[in-house]
Amino acid sequence: MYTNVKYILDDAVKNHYGVIASAAVNVELLRGEIAAADEMQAPLIILLGQGQMSKHGNADVMVPMIKTLAGETNVPVALILDHGRDWEYIVHAFRSGFSSIMIDASAYPTEENIARTKRVVDLCHLQGVPVEGEIGHVGQAVDMDGCKEEWYTRPEEALSFIKATNVDCLAIACGTAHGKYPKDFVPKLRFDIIEKVRAVTDIPLALHGGSGSGDDNIRRAVEAGINKVNVCTDIFNYCRDFTLDALKKDPDYDYLQLLIDIEARAKEITKHYIGLTGSAGQAGNFTAENTFGLKLGPCTGVGE
Ligand code: 13P
Repeated sequence: MYTNVKYILDDAVKNHYGVIASAAVNVELLRGEIAAADEMQAPLIILLGQGQMSKHGNADVMVPMIKTLAGETNVPVALILDHGRDWEYIVHAFRSGFSSIMIDASAYPTEENIARTKRVVDLCHLQGVPVEGEIGHVGQAVDMDGCKEEWYTRPEEALSFIKATNVDCLAIACGTAHGKYPKDFVPKLRFDIIEKVRAVTDIPLALHGGSGSGDDNIRRAVEAGINKVNVCTDIFNYCRDFTLDALKKDPDYDYLQLLIDIEARAKEITKHYIGLTGSAGQAGNFTAENTFGLKLGPCTGVGE
């Protein structure tokens, strides 16, 4: 069932669980991730980043494939433009059928972040497409940005950002970072920030940089109030490492079989992450009739 993040995450807030948002840039990852959600009867969010699409499969190619595969399972599957930064790109994703959009203007000063985010919300809400914004800034693991406390979300600013922009989901910074952390480094998360933001709002909260954050940290983040856990690097690297190993063992590995086996690895690691969030078995909360779509009100004016 193809749906949007608001439909999925409002249920996650109501029933206090988290949903995995997993990156999928090709058919193998997509099929593996959806199979994991289907088997565990968990709602799922598919991430597709502006940066990824500019280098690989673009929206015109990916959206129809994602919609088709989402339609083949009874579990709700949403698609979100991840880290939309440029207006033209965001509009293209919106028009291509993305069911949800993230605008990441978090590197700008707050006023500029609000203005850019609100512009996207105003567009997307015209067609019932929910929007995720970010306040505070989640940086890069390789630069140890997760330790930069000055970038962490300030709970009072989170509330004013939500009010000023009308976002449907909020990404917060509390100690994680995107990408691969240095060897043996496990981030220290500020669960108190999550709890304080959760105390001032009931909109869904997103944790970016899920990879390598540690299973216990993810469980505790969900307990503290996170509803969307973004995971990309671990999925990519798990499949890459399998490929390296497989080809080392057998350089004549049949290519099609390799793709099928990569898909199985994508399923395996997605199942692991779903298991940390409490979303397994929650698909039954969603009904097929209640999917997203263009919500048009009744005609009211003469000539409409
Ligand atoms: P990781 O690659 O660190 O899992 O981060 C994913 C993410 O937050 C995408 O928005």
